[in-house]
Amino acid sequence: METLPVSRAVWCGKHWIHLKEVDSTNDYLKGGDFPDGAVAIADRQTAGKGRQGKNWAGAPTGQALYLSVLFHSMKIGDMGLLPLLCGLAVARSLGKGARIKWPNDVLINNKKVCGILCESTIQGSRVSAVCGMGINLSQPAAFFEENGLPHAASLLSEAGETRPVLTAAAMLLDELEPILEQYRQDGFGPLLPAYQERCITLGRQVQVIRGQEAETAQAVSIALDGGLVCQSDGETFTIRAGEASVRGIYGYA
Ligand code: BTN
Repeated sequence: METLPVSRAVWCGKHWIHLKEVDSTNDYLKGGDFPDGAVAIADRQTAGKGRQGKNWAGAPTGQALYLSVLFHSMKIGDMGLLPLLCGLAVARSLGKGARIKWPNDVLINNKKVCGILCESTIQGSRVSAVCGMGINLSQPAAFFEENGLPHAASLLSEAGETRPVLTAAAMLLDELEPILEQYRQDGFGPLLPAYQERCITLGRQVQVIRGQEAETAQAVSIALDGGLVCQSDGETFTIRAGEASVRGIYGYA
């Protein structure tokens, strides 16, 4: 493993590997014995994984970043928060216009430019987490139209910015490392205001979908465990990622 040359991060990405092709960067890190903060980047994934068992479609080489990071010594409670922490890091790396659709889709102009999949993994006696981020960097708008992805976009198509893959990786790790350090030291509390400020879901009417049932509610805040606090008919309740999904009533966000 080499050192990512352009990153300021110290431990996050200190050990990294750049693969031409892999099934999934998440599975690559889950299958090996790597140190805390190890990073895998691939030019191409043959079986990229999305949330809820979906596939994560590939882009032409160089037009998207597929990056996974391994975090050791995690607790089960961390698993609900890691997607939010990664979402905040990605949003910061993409600039002021990037917003987060709870829990962790990153949007520009209400279109999804990044998806995040965090998985836990047990290696010996250690519980670790692998957080995989897929960032659309420079696919043209036509790419998403042609592939039937009307709610997706890239940094180029929405912000007009061309960002090479390894530059995007370094910028992401520069944001991720301080967020993880703060979280490990002080928990989510100090990061909550920054997350809420970026979170496009808050203040909106959302549909909370549990299995076949959908309920309309107002999204009001984010709980300290990463849950989305909602109100409906005078009742306040918190939903957790994985238990229910949230759709905006008008459009994707
Ligand atoms: C989503 O469904 O929104 C999550 C998509 C996560 C995709 C990334 S790409 C890098 C990493 N490797 C994978 O197989 N998935 C994640």
